[in-house]
Amino acid sequence: MALKNRLAKLLIDPAFRNPGLLKFIFSIDTVTGIDLVKTLSPFKLMPASRSLFTRCFAHFVSGEEISLAASNGLAALAPDRAAHDYLLLQASEEATHLEHFRDKLLAFGLGEMELNRYLAPSFAAFGRAISGRVERGDYVAGIVGNNIVVEGLAICLLELGCGEMRANSDEISAFMDFVLEDERHHVRFGERMLKRLNERDALDHAAAEDFYGTMWDLVRKAIAEIPDVLDAMSLKPAQLEHDVKAYYDARLSAAGLSFAV
Ligand SMILES: [Fe+2]
Ligand SMILES: [Fe+2]
Repeated sequence: MALKNRLAKLLIDPAFRNPGLLKFIFSIDTVTGIDLVKTLSPFKLMPASRSLFTRCFAHFVSGEEISLAASNGLAALAPDRAAHDYLLLQASEEATHLEHFRDKLLAFGLGEMELNRYLAPSFAAFGRAISGRVERGDYVAGIVGNNIVVEGLAICLLELGCGEMRANSDEISAFMDFVLEDERHHVRFGERMLKRLNERDALDHAAAEDFYGTMWDLVRKAIAEIPDVLDAMSLKPAQLEHDVKAYYDARLSAAGLSFAV
């Protein structure tokens, strides 16, 4: 089929799925500098892009909801005023991210209610695991679970797997950069918090290691549950698992922690 006809099919046929062609079209964009998708229909998602955006956004929206609830809960458990104030600031930033993601869903005509269908069960379990610990007053587990594991996973996905989403529009790209910068701050706060508690001997190493192990199991399961989503993001599950683990190890090492997981 000639490219022109295939492109026409991509644009008009909701059942058309051809990520390879999508990559090819975007690679043409890179070469020519012409944003074909935007030129043909500004801010209107093509069918294949709609599927990609919906499946990816389901996980980003869920991640923001988990982080919003966790940072609000953790603020009340913070060991000092500075940490309390930072966690409230973080909560407001998570609410802003959530509002922006919802705004994008609306702009692209995607329903928030349909997102749960696309969510990996183990990804949904992150929130339950963290809130269970936070409700019991376990500040360290909340920081490990949210500020290191969930936010670290979000950073890896935003850095490694959003090239094609960015290619859809400059606005999406700017939005990703804006969220990414905040998430990097949130992870750095978690890293510094754990380091401080560790240096003061105010951290139960075995308990933190145990909860990190629980979260890492969920991350591995979540990665295994969404091969199609990862494929749409051009991510290979085994490579992503390796990269995410390396990212966590670096953060924990910076905090002076070494977990046998
Ligand atoms: Fe966020
Ligand atoms: Fe965050």
